[in-house]
Amino acid sequence: MNNLTKKMLFDAETISGRVKELGRQISSRHPEGDLLLIGILKGCFMFMADLVRSLDVPCQIDFVRVSSYGSGTCSSGRLDIVMDSRIPVANKDVILVDDIVDSGLTLCEYRNVVAQRGPRSLETVALIDKTGRREKFVELDYCGFKIEHGFIVGYGLDCDEQYRGLGCLYVLE
Ligand code: IMP
Ligand code: MG
Repeated sequence: MNNLTKKMLFDAETISGRVKELGRQISSRHPEGDLLLIGILKGCFMFMADLVRSLDVPCQIDFVRVSSYGSGTCSSGRLDIVMDSRIPVANKDVILVDDIVDSGLTLCEYRNVVAQRGPRSLETVALIDKTGRREKFVELDYCGFKIEHGFIVGYGLDCDEQYRGLGCLYVLE
């Protein structure tokens, strides 16, 4: 991965505009909702911080850590729940917040886990829907950007723990 160069995909202004739109969409769909946003770490941290500030409705937030990836760019094909949420979901409108959906395994499996806990409603939002390698169907209720292929870094997303702090989204090539 060392000799890859990063090419700008979406600049900070574009990301900010899109995240604000997502915030508006979520707020208008949940005007009186008892919202609980559960972010899937670590990739979601920057997206989550901007998304909650774009909401016009109050919400609770929590984070979980699940892992389906090794240190490379390919999914290992299984899900470990490394750190789970303890906030009760009964009577809550839960929205799972992910950075990027690739194979779909992470969001699909963790969504099933939360669904079994009986939230009032359960939705998903991803900053990026990467469609080209989907293995598990995941319904995304809200999505920032759609791409087909490419390994994306920046704005929370990493490659071997690098690049998370960048304010824009880049593709490694
Ligand atoms: P999935 O389980 O294959 O859908 O993978 C989801 C997780 O893999 C995401 O939450 C990311 O953490 C990571 N991932 C997938 N594609 C990328 C990428 O292009 N850049 C950075 N991380 C990625
Ligand atoms: Mg992730």
